[in-house]
Amino acid sequence: MTGELSPIDKAKFVAAKRSVDYVEDGMRVGLGTGSTAAWMVRCLGELVRDDGLKIKGVPTSTRTAELAREVGIEVISLDEAKWLDLTIDGADEFDANLNLIKGGGGALLQEKIVATASDQMIVIADVGKEVETLGAFPLPIEVIPFGWETTKSLVEEMLISMDVLGRDATLRMNGDRPFVTDEGNYILDLHLGRIGKANQLAMVLNQMPGVVENGLFIDICDVVIVGYGDGRVETRDINEGTVEEDRLDFLESENLFTDLQD
Ligand code: A5P
Repeated sequence: MTGELSPIDKAKFVAAKRSVDYVEDGMRVGLGTGSTAAWMVRCLGELVRDDGLKIKGVPTSTRTAELAREVGIEVISLDEAKWLDLTIDGADEFDANLNLIKGGGGALLQEKIVATASDQMIVIADVGKEVETLGAFPLPIEVIPFGWETTKSLVEEMLISMDVLGRDATLRMNGDRPFVTDEGNYILDLHLGRIGKANQLAMVLNQMPGVVENGLFIDICDVVIVGYGDGRVETRDINEGTVEEDRLDFLESENLFTDLQD
C-alpha cells in the first residue's frame, strides 16, 4: 500500500506520524490545514479510535473540521477551547529560525489565530520546504474583497521600499472566480522571490487598510519535524536548540493506509 506513495507523500506522512507523539490525553489541539496536516489528523484519529486517546481538536479550516469529525476527533471552536496546549500544522516554507510562509491552502488567517493561541506550535513538513531565505514561495496575504484592486496596487507600491526581489501581486483564483477564504475574504499572492526582512514586511503589511493578515509566521513555531522520503525524521526544537533524528517504519502504519483507501 505504501509503495503507491510518492517520496514527498512519504516524507509528509512520517513527519505527521512523528508529530502525534507530542499529543497527550486531555489536550486541546489545534489542527492545521493542508496535505501534511491531513495526514496528522488521520494519525490522531487512529489514536482516538484504537488507543482511546481523549483530545479536543480546534480545526483551522472547514475542510480540516470535516476530516477531523470523519476520523472521530471531537471538534470544538477556539472560543470554546480558549487556549490550546499544542497546534500541529504544515508550512509552505521554513527557515533556520523556524520562521514560516503559510497560506498555500488559503487558511492562513485561522491558522495564525489558532497557532498564536497555543502553548506550542509544531510544524510538520517534507524537507523540500526548507529554505535559506523565505520568499521563493509566493507570500499569501488575506485581503477584504471591498476595494481589493486598490489594496493590491498599494501593496505593490509599498513593496518598492521593502527588501524583496519581486513585487507582483496576483489574485488567487478558484476556476474563473476569486478564491474565497473561510472568512469570506480574497487572497493575494505576492511574488517576492526573496524576503530580506520578513519581520519588517509582516508588520508593514498588517498596517495596511484592506489587509487582514499575512502568511509570514514569525517567532510562532517552536518545533519543526522534517520528513524525508526514506522514512527519516528530524525534530528541530528552536527553544531547546536540539535536533533529534529518528526513522519511522512504514509497515507499522498499514492500517492507516488501508483506512485511506476506504
Ligand atoms: C494552508 O493554508 C497552508 O498554510 C498549509 O499549511 C501549507 O500550504 C502546507 O500545505 P501542504 O502540507 O499541503 O504542503
